[in-house]
Formats: sequence, C-alpha cells, structure tokens
Amino acid sequence: MSKLNHIVILTGAGISAESGIDTFRSEGGLWEQYPIEQVATPEGFAADPALVHNFYNMRRAALKTVKPNAAHIALAKLEKGLHARGGSLTIITQNVDNLHEQGGAENVIHMHGILTSLLCQFCGHRWESHEDTSPNDSCIACQRRSGPRPDIVWFGEMPYELDRIDQVMSQADLFVSIGTSGAVYPAAGLVSEARRRGTKTLELNLEESQGSYLFDESRLGKAGDIVPKWVAEVLAA
Ligand code: APR
Repeated sequence: MSKLNHIVILTGAGISAESGIDTFRSEGGLWEQYPIEQVATPEGFAADPALVHNFYNMRRAALKTVKPNAAHIALAKLEKGLHARGGSLTIITQNVDNLHEQGGAENVIHMHGILTSLLCQFCGHRWESHEDTSPNDSCIACQRRSGPRPDIVWFGEMPYELDRIDQVMSQADLFVSIGTSGAVYPAAGLVSEARRRGTKTLELNLEESQGSYLFDESRLGKAGDIVPKWVAEVLAA
C-alpha cells in the first residue's frame, strides 16, 4: 500500500455495533423497533414531541453505559500516527453517539448531529446536554418553552457541515467507508465523489453494502477485527 497521508473515513452504525449500540437496518435494528416517520422526521416531532424526546432520551442514556471498541480506538491511533508524519485524518460519522471522541479521535464531523447536543427550534441556539429532555423544557438562550429539540438531522433535513465535507474530500488520498449500509444520501454518495476525484477507495464492513461495487477494495469482517489490522498496515507503510 503506497504511503497515504490524507485519509477521510466515513463511519456508520456498524462501527459502534460491537460497543452494544443497535444498528438501524440489521436484524432487529432500530428501524424495526421504531417507525422512522414517528421518531426521525420533523413531522413526527411536531405530531408527538414527547415520544420523540423519549426516543432520544433512551438513546442518550444508553451512551452512558457503552464504551468505544477496538475500531474506535484504532482510528484515534491512526489520527495521531498520520499527524506525526505530516498527514491528517478526518472522520465523517453518520453516528450520533460520541464513541469516536470517547475513543480519542479529535477531528470528527457529525453530519447527522449528536445525542449530546440540543438545538432550539425557535432561535437556533445549540448547547451541550447529557440529560433527559421534554417538551416542557425551555431554551437556555431565548427561554422559549418547548424550544429544545434533539440536535439530530432527521429525514428530510439537510445534513450538517456539507461544505467542510466537500473540502476534506477534495484533499483526500484515500476514502474509507466503515460500518455503513450505503442506504442514506448524501453519505452514501461520498464514494462516487471520491472516484470522480481519482481518490482511492476502501470499504471495511461486516457484509456487502449497497455500494460495495463502487470501492477499489472491500474487506468483510467485524470492525473490531479488521479496522485495527488495516490501521496497522497504514502506519507501517
Ligand atoms: N462491524 C462492521 N460492520 C458492521 C458490524 C460490525 N460489527 N455490524 C453491522 N455492520 C454493518 C452492517 O452490515 C451494515 O452494512 O454496518 C452497517 C449498518 O447499516 P445501517 O444499520 O443501515 O446503519 P447506517 O449505514 O449507519 O445508517 C445510515 O441511516 O437511519 C439513518 O441517520 C441514520 O445515520 C443513519 C443512516
């Protein structure tokens, strides 16, 4: 593997599966337990804010009981190793957990938001919060009651930091996709963007994804096993 210095990694729910966080579309996944339109759309939130607050309260509370796994820790090691040789790592995650940060990664873009942040639907103020929320809460900035909502990108909403994502993709030597089914755009379109730019592409996933055919190389296995192995290869090059 030629020396790679600027790597962009897209991660999905599969990288957190071995930490005990449900994926969305695997057997018994979150979208089998909860209808997307009720808990992950602006319309669902408007119709029943208490239900949506509770869905995210349950997922936020679960964060306090899980730990980063070997894959999260390996990526943090990769970030430090690339820095040491004048390179860079950007992790673009679709996940709303904070396991990349808990594992030591610093340069993380949460394109679908994060469970530990709240957003005021009236004034747009964002703030960190780890506690349960309800429709009776007030925004800490504008004080409007029922202002706070989960700072999560719901279906039909614009993902965050798309300009920054475009900028890092334009400088990447390698684009790696880890633990995602390639079902949701624009995340699922990043591999095609990488190919258009002539950037090498690698997929590390438990099984074939919808976009496997688009990758130069696709390695199948559990992230906790194949990600540390791949990181060791890159850092040894
Ligand atoms: N190691 C590696 N990959 C795994 C593992 C594992 N231990 N377990 C599951 N996977 C793979 C599955 O094979 C699947 O391809 O992770 C992928 C998980 O796919 P999804 O459940 O669809 O999750 P994701 O791709 O992150 O979903 C994207 O959809 O619902 C929205 O906003 C939500 O961010 C989410 C987006």
